[in-house]
Amino acid sequence: MKKIFAANWKLNKTPDQATAFAQDFLAKTSGNFFENKEAFIFPQNFSLDAVSRGFKSSKVQFGPQQIHTETKGAFTGENSLDLAKSLGSQICLIGHSERRQFFAEANPLINKKVLLCQSTDVLPVLCIGESLEQRQKNETLKVCFEQLETALAGVDTAKRIVVAYEPVWAIGTGQVATLDQVKEVHAELYKKMTSLNFKNFQLLYGGSVKADNAKDLISIAHVDGFLIGGASLEVASFLDICNCL
Ligand code: 13P
Repeated sequence: MKKIFAANWKLNKTPDQATAFAQDFLAKTSGNFFENKEAFIFPQNFSLDAVSRGFKSSKVQFGPQQIHTETKGAFTGENSLDLAKSLGSQICLIGHSERRQFFAEANPLINKKVLLCQSTDVLPVLCIGESLEQRQKNETLKVCFEQLETALAGVDTAKRIVVAYEPVWAIGTGQVATLDQVKEVHAELYKKMTSLNFKNFQLLYGGSVKADNAKDLISIAHVDGFLIGGASLEVASFLDICNCL
C-alpha cells in the first residue's frame, strides 16, 4: 500500500507562494516518486485555485482544510465542498484539532462532514487525537475511540477513508509522540477500525513530524503516512520527509 504524505498548510501561503511551491515540488519529483507514495496538499481556501492550477495533470491530490455541512445557500462566510470540487479537489480535511479547539467543531458536526464527503466521492481525512490533559489522565484511547465512533456513525465502511491521529500536545510544539506511544495508539486504532468493519482505510500520524523523526515513525506498524504542518511549508523540508521511504 502506498504511504501518504499530507501537507496541512493551515493559515499560510498566498496564491503566489502556492504556485511557486507547486512548480518547485514538481520540478524536484519524478514519476518514481509516486510509485510508493501519495502526496496530499491542504491549502488555505484562497490558495486552492493556485494549487489546483499548479498541480494540474500531476498525481498530487489537494482539497480544503474544512468545509461546511451544506454545499450552498445562505451561509455567509462558509466554504462549500461543491465549490472545492469544481476546482478539482479530491480530498478534504475534517475535524482538525484546531477546528475543534478554536471553532467549536464537535463530533456530530464532523460526522455530517464525513458523510457529505462520502456522498460526493471526496476522500475524507478525519483528524482525531487527545489533549495533554486527557493523556495524563490515561484517556487517550477512550477519547480517540469516542471521536472515531461518533464521527464515523453511518459512514459507508466499504468506501475509502483516511484517519489522522494527531495528539494535540504534539502539534506545533516540537514535542513528537514517542515511538511507543505512536505504536500503541496506531495498533489500537487499526483494531478499532477493523472492528467497525472498515475495509479500506489508512492511518496517518501527525504532530511535529520532521525529516529527522520520519524514518523511525514510518516504520511503525499501521503508520500509513503523515499529516504534516510546519515542515510542509517548504518544498525542501516536505520532500525530506517524503524521502524517508
Ligand atoms: P505540525 O507538523 O506543525 O506539528 O502540525 C501538525 C498538524 O497539525 C498537521 O495537521
